[in-house]
Amino acid sequence: MASLAETFRQAVDGRDLLWSDFEVRQTDCYRLFRGGVDGIHGWIVDRFGALAWIQWREGECSLNWDQACELAAQCQSVLKAKFGVEATFLKRYVADRSRLPNLQQEGLVFEAAFGAKNERWLGRENGVLFKILPTENFSPGLFLDQRNHRDWVRNLSSGRRVLNLFAYTGAFSVFAAKGGASEVVTVDVSKKWLETAKENFALNELHNTEHRCYATGALGFLQTGLKRAEHYDLVLIDPPSFSRSDRDGVFSLRENRTELWRLGRESVGPKGIFFFSCNWQQLSGESLIRETLEWFPASQWQKVELPGQPNDFLQTENPIAAVGYRRK
Ligand SMILES: C[S@@+](CC[C@H](N)C(=O)[O-])C[C@H]1O[C@@H](n2cnc3c(N)ncnc32)[C@H](O)[C@@H]1O
Repeated sequence: MASLAETFRQAVDGRDLLWSDFEVRQTDCYRLFRGGVDGIHGWIVDRFGALAWIQWREGECSLNWDQACELAAQCQSVLKAKFGVEATFLKRYVADRSRLPNLQQEGLVFEAAFGAKNERWLGRENGVLFKILPTENFSPGLFLDQRNHRDWVRNLSSGRRVLNLFAYTGAFSVFAAKGGASEVVTVDVSKKWLETAKENFALNELHNTEHRCYATGALGFLQTGLKRAEHYDLVLIDPPSFSRSDRDGVFSLRENRTELWRLGRESVGPKGIFFFSCNWQQLSGESLIRETLEWFPASQWQKVELPGQPNDFLQTENPIAAVGYRRK
């Protein structure tokens, strides 16, 4: 274990230039360790302010759970000395979520925590604050690989009406408001996440932006909006590959993506922008562009240049697939 802790320390020390660049940009949420690329397969470490969040990827990592706990405690010491990290959360990351109920029944341990036991954690990205939720299942509240897209949203939101679908904790919405959006509409099927989105607005003192939240399914929201001739200047759609909820039933990219593109496209006003991203292994960036071109013909839509992957994610597998189109 000592040699793995050393691998971790060296990989983190080896990217000091990147960490100082983040500091200059008032960012303390980023990927510190990228698994196999940095020397330990199935071991992903992210920093969120004063805490570290480790994914121990079942099936990829050669360590067993007890060994993972030992390594996590060592990573915590390294990060405390280097960044003042106060606590580390280790998560058993199961790729196939349909197995979760069975695994939970078997009494498997899914998380362990090391260090301080704070009630409230905060992270900062490009000067914007976010509530961090380390004990939630698959993300502590902010998807780090979307950082450059959020910055892009902030840069083009001024004076715009922005719709954020599948909003989760409202990270895109907060950046749109920070960029001066005239109005932000945040939609998620989960009331709980919308409450966090509101807290994130409050944290950033965005009291002057008109912010409306709707706890409902994205497809139904778009259909109703179109009946009322609702249009937006910026439509952001970043869905999960699959979800099942009491409120909206089953949503899947496999079945519903073209409907989402069609309804999303119709909801974009004159000169408005459509943005779509996803992290579905079956849809690469190239396939996404190829498939959406049919729905966004060049006669009516101009492709928008999007920012690349964040530097802390370079060389990682499964990068986000994303496209943007501007109505001509
Ligand atoms: C991958 S997260 C989206 C990440 C988010 N776009 C961001 O920028 O952080 C998936 C979100 O979609 C929501 N969701 C799932 N099915 C939905 C549906 N049918 N309609 C609206 N929201 C849905 C979930 O509650 C969850 O918050």
